[in-house]
Amino acid sequence: MTSSTPLTAIVLAAGAGTRMRSTRAKVLHEIGGRSLLGHAVVAVTPLQPQRLVVVIGYQADQVGPHALALDPHVEVVIQHEQRGTGHAVRVALEAVADTNGTVLVSYGDVPLLQAATVRRLLEQHAAAGDAATLITAELADPSGYGRIVRDATGALEAIVEHHDATEAQRGITEVNSGIFAFDEGFLRAALAQLTTDNAQGELYLTDMVAVARRDGARVGALLVDDVAQTEGVNDRAQLARLGAELNRRLLARWMLAGVTIVDPATTWLDVNVSLAPDVTLLPGVQLHGITTVAPGAVIGPDTTLVDVCVGAGADVVRTHGSGAVIGERASVGPFAYLRPGTRLDAGAKIGTFVEAKNAELGPGAKVPHLSYVGDASVGEGSNIGAGTIFANYDGVAKHRTKVGRHCRTGSDNVFVAPVEIGDGAATGAGTIVRRDVPPGALAVSTGPQRHIEGWVAQKRAGSAAAQAAAAATHDEGPVGHTGTAGPDGEGTSQ
Ligand code: UD1
Ligand code: CA
Repeated sequence: MTSSTPLTAIVLAAGAGTRMRSTRAKVLHEIGGRSLLGHAVVAVTPLQPQRLVVVIGYQADQVGPHALALDPHVEVVIQHEQRGTGHAVRVALEAVADTNGTVLVSYGDVPLLQAATVRRLLEQHAAAGDAATLITAELADPSGYGRIVRDATGALEAIVEHHDATEAQRGITEVNSGIFAFDEGFLRAALAQLTTDNAQGELYLTDMVAVARRDGARVGALLVDDVAQTEGVNDRAQLARLGAELNRRLLARWMLAGVTIVDPATTWLDVNVSLAPDVTLLPGVQLHGITTVAPGAVIGPDTTLVDVCVGAGADVVRTHGSGAVIGERASVGPFAYLRPGTRLDAGAKIGTFVEAKNAELGPGAKVPHLSYVGDASVGEGSNIGAGTIFANYDGVAKHRTKVGRHCRTGSDNVFVAPVEIGDGAATGAGTIVRRDVPPGALAVSTGPQRHIEGWVAQKRAGSAAAQAAAAATHDEGPVGHTGTAGPDGEGTSQ
């Protein structure tokens, strides 16, 4: 292939993936936050193929839109009946005009394949001028894969599928990865010669090797050392194994880029997570989606963030967060729940047992303990007392609360939205704020405190409380006398 040779890429993704035992098409299952099909597409797009065809079939109504969402340049072709990988390529080629170039075929269930490896395949294919070139690997456990059969000279003779292989052939450890480069003219002619004369009654793409051999066309192989790149996902055990391998690779990359990862075994990252140098991830951290972490931030232990932006020097401890922005030097947790629309400005704090949703905290604003902050804004430098509920829902609609700058609100407040607390205002403990509080005012809503003297001695006579009260007031009453009811029988258990 020269740079002027047109390249067509075909990704096969029509199969049901029966071995997954899932109601979802196999290629939609994810590792590292990206579908198997997504991984397959990302492996070929950097090669800038003129055409990128994805063959779909099973659950086409879901896989098709997913493929287009991955890359709008994808051409989706439907293989109505899944009659084998050779048939799938035939269907794809019928849909694209004769371009007389190179056709790259890959399988939608080989998620660790890298574009650089595909590029090596294309380079070898072009340099050798072979009719076809495929990627192979030596696997310790080759079961399930097509085996590479070579002749005495080492030339490729055939690929024999596991189901069709003899006992001796099953002993072969070199396998077919499913990634092929074909000369398009050869591919079109050879596909016509495939038959269903095999254990599964399918048209196998892998039989192209034997067809080439019969026709005297040369087939080359690129044996790759990094076997994980060639491994396919057919069942959930392989999905988990390759998911773990992908994670290991992502962690290694970020550690080399200057991120401290204290316990790689309990740290999970999605492919689109981005970490700055000198970020520290403590044990038990999962970062998903498009989560970004700025320099010097410390996350964990035991924290899950989905689509969260963490600012420089922030500290996020034992937190579950999604769709949130954590400003620089902000502090979150331990035991915090950040829901979508939460934004912490620089130095703000969401503390222990605090849930926030659609809530904006200005610079240095703090909600330190045991609170729910829904649909609210808290101005710069304000402090919200422990145990405060921003009551945002009246049973019909959601409303907002606005707390101004440099406010000090007492413990155990309820802000009944919509309501506004003016700049510099304060509230007493236990205040239920139903009306706007003017700037600088103190709001209190509880009545004066009353005492009913001797109530415990009367109503709870003989209890530990009554004894303690008596001791404290030096009462000479019947200390140690237990079990009698109050004068009117109240205080006994029913
Ligand atoms: C295939 C190869 C095997 C190779 C292995 C590598 C064949 C016959 N066998 O086996 O040599 O070692 O992959 O992982 O090619 N597909 C379609 N249409 C179909 C059938 C399959 O689009 O009619 C797609 C599937 O969605 C899947 C891919 O092709 O993404 C491979 O199919 P699968 O059934 O998983 O093949 P394997 O048995 O793994
Ligand atoms: Ca497979």
